[in-house]
Formats: sequence, C-alpha cells, structure tokens
Amino acid sequence: MSPKKVITYGTFDLFHQGHYNILKRAREYGDYLIVGVTGENYDVGRGKLSVHDSLADRIENVKKTGLADEIIVEEYLGQKISDIVRYGVDTFVIGDDWKGKFDHLDKYCDMVYLERTAGISSTKIRKETLDVYRIGIIADDLDDNTIVSESKLINGFRVTSVYAEDEELREAFRERYDIPESSDSCGQLFEQADIVYIRCSLKNRSRYIRKALEAGKHVICDPPFTISSAEQDELQKMAKDRNCILMDNVKMVHIHVFNQLLWMTQGGLIGDILSFNASISREDRTKADLFYDLLALALCPMIKIMGCDYNSVDIQTSEENNIIEFASLDFRYDSGRAVINVGNRIRTKSRIEIVGTKGTIRMDNRWWKGSYFELDNPDAVDLEIYNTNYQGNGFKYLLKAISTMLENNRTESMGLFSGESREIVKIAEMTEKSRTTGKGC
Ligand code: CTP
Repeated sequence: MSPKKVITYGTFDLFHQGHYNILKRAREYGDYLIVGVTGENYDVGRGKLSVHDSLADRIENVKKTGLADEIIVEEYLGQKISDIVRYGVDTFVIGDDWKGKFDHLDKYCDMVYLERTAGISSTKIRKETLDVYRIGIIADDLDDNTIVSESKLINGFRVTSVYAEDEELREAFRERYDIPESSDSCGQLFEQADIVYIRCSLKNRSRYIRKALEAGKHVICDPPFTISSAEQDELQKMAKDRNCILMDNVKMVHIHVFNQLLWMTQGGLIGDILSFNASISREDRTKADLFYDLLALALCPMIKIMGCDYNSVDIQTSEENNIIEFASLDFRYDSGRAVINVGNRIRTKSRIEIVGTKGTIRMDNRWWKGSYFELDNPDAVDLEIYNTNYQGNGFKYLLKAISTMLENNRTESMGLFSGESREIVKIAEMTEKSRTTGKGC
C-alpha cells in the first residue's frame, strides 16, 4: 500500500513551539509529511517583508525537528494545487488561522484545520526580540508620502516623532498620522529618532540633512538633496565620516522587477542599447520646485541603465514666471542616446522605452513604481511581461533595504550608489546653469 501523504505549509520564521506542534500533529494524519516553506521571492512579492530568517535557516529548522520526510519551497501563489497533484497528497493540514481560506482544495484532497498553539507567533517574537529603529520625520507640508502606513508593514521600524517649523502644521501632521510625539526643535527630534526622513521642499533639504548628520543620524531624503555638486559632495562626505546612511528616497531601485530590468539591459539580453527615453510629468501647481524632483526621478533609471559616462548633454528648457515648465535633456553616449523629457505643469505621457539591437523594453504609466515592464522581442510572437504586484508606493522595500544595510553595518546603498546619486545632482546643477545662462552644455 502506498504511504498516506500529508502536506503543510508555512514561513516558519524564528522557529517556535507552535511550529513544532503543528508539524507533529500534521504527521499523525499520515505516514509521510511534506513541508512547504515559503521562498524569499514569494514572501517579498506578497508584501511579507518582515521575515527575519533566511530560507536556508528556515528549512534547516524544519529539518532539525526530524518530523518532515520531504521539504519543498513554495515559490508562487497557487503552487499548492500543483504540489498536491504532483506529490499525490492525501491530506492538507494547516493552522486554523487559515480556517475556510483553503476550502477550495477539498476537490483535490482532505482538508484539516488544526487549532493553533495559543500565545505564540513569529510576529510576537519579532516584536519582542528584534531591534526597532525609530523614525523621525521633518516635514513642511501635511503629506507623509505614505511612510507612516508603509513603515507598519515591515518589522523593525516605527515612526515616533515629527518636526515642522510651523507649530500648527507639526501638530496637524502628528494628529493626522497618529504619531506618538511632535518635537519642538530639530534637536529634540534627533533625540527621539535613529533615522530621520526629510520630507521637505528642495530649498530646505541640505540644511536639514546637515543637521541630522551632525547629530549622527541616518537620513532618508527625497532627491535631489541639493542642486550643487559641491554641497552634495560635502553631505556625502559627512555621512561617510560619521558612518551614517544617507539614502535617496528612490523606491524603484529596490523593487525586484527593476533589478530584472537592469539584469536584462546590462547582461546584453536586449543586445546593445541604442536609445533610452524617459518622460515624466505631473501638474502640481502648489509645489514650485517640483521640477527637480521629477528630473531626479527620471534620471535615476537612465543612470542605472546607461551609466554616468555620457560624452555630452544638450539641455533645452522652457519656463514661465521663472519656473521651468518643460525640459528636454539629450545625452550622447558612445553606444547610443538618452533623452529625458520632464513636464512640470506641461503634460507629457509618462513612459520609458529602451531600444536595444535585440529587443525593446517599455514601462508605461507610473513607471517610477518599478512594478512592471514589457519586453518586445522581434523573434518572439508575444510580448513578455515582467511584474511585481504590490500595494502602496514601495517605501516598505526601501526600508527593507535599509534594514539589511543596518544589519550588515553597511552605509552604501546597493540601490542607488553614491556616485550615481552625485551624478543626478550634477545634471540638475547643469540644468539650472544652462537655464540661467541660456546655454546648453
Ligand atoms: N502555527 C500554529 N500555532 C502558532 C503559530 C503558527 O499552529 N502559534 C501554525 C500556522 O497556523 C501554520 C504554521 O504554523 O499552519 C506555519 O505558520 P507561520 O505563518 O509560519 O507562523 P506564525 O507564527 O503564524 O507566523 P507570523 O506571525 O509571521 O504570521
């Protein structure tokens, strides 16, 4: 007679008694136990970013119980059905926190929900034992850019305080996002925070970055930090000397699918790159200096994909009332050309197109979310679609990157390198210069 097979799944992070109990009881339902452990990509893809242990450690911990006859990795949504069919599973066992959620599997095998062990969970252990970094926000308007809600999706971070020069704004901000404290001064904020998120208009950024670094704090700030290369160098040096993180708030470079795009473009999968085009526009008339924010955002994928070694750039701007409304930057590289169009108050379709000798990559709409691209390969009949589905604006992925950096005592971001961040500022500086002198570079 063939053995009766049982399967169960879980993340099994920070392995605890509840995990042991369910494995033991699951085993009693048959002769052969298969344990599915969630893969890292699967967890990241479904937004479960809090997992502490590596996949290898989690597998090892399940193995050490001696209860599993076979361990498999769960890599995608819907894999459970193919596993049941593939391994000839008779019974599916899972804790009753999932009660009712897997009833549709009873077409394939018996379904058993077991009572969870009371009083213990990986979430609880993470909360009780892992370091929590306190985030302080410096703001000059009421928009938190979703940092407060996103920071709750990842363990190890908590927004603890807010500072704004305007006292009324500070209180309104604290109330709106339910932040425990507001600070009367920057100094007080620094005492209450390990990481400072500077969410201010361009004219105030470098001043606050400097103060936060002087206080020895890690900093996240929207790019560009400044439009002076000399000042950027100074800030980067200050961060380095103090062993502090100075991180551009660019989310897309931390999203899984953007790394796939980088891999394809740099690994020659679309051949030699002939042209890179990025356009972006927004029409927020309340923010006068939005232009440089948009420019930095559009330059980021160009710098990542094409590099910093362009030979020349031609910059055209048009403005009204001393505000740049539209700019077109035309870069010549040895291998090809890159054009960046930024519409500030003038609408352009937001899109990226990268043309290579062996294929074209496109990202449409809100491409800066870095959640989707399509590959048009002339030899293939269909388009290939790559995506990472996620809710929100991706700030949780940036926090995850910071968490890894802090864990490894590393200050250089692997998302946007400091040299790349510097190049973005240099281009912003050239744009400002060409605008005031009326000459391209
Ligand atoms: N489990 C259990 N009793 C607990 C905790 C977990 O029986 N106290 C079971 C779950 O129901 C599931 C398996 O163990 O069938 C793996 O659960 P997992 O999600 O990895 O563990 P949790 O502790 O629930 O993790 P988290 O807090 O991250 O959700």
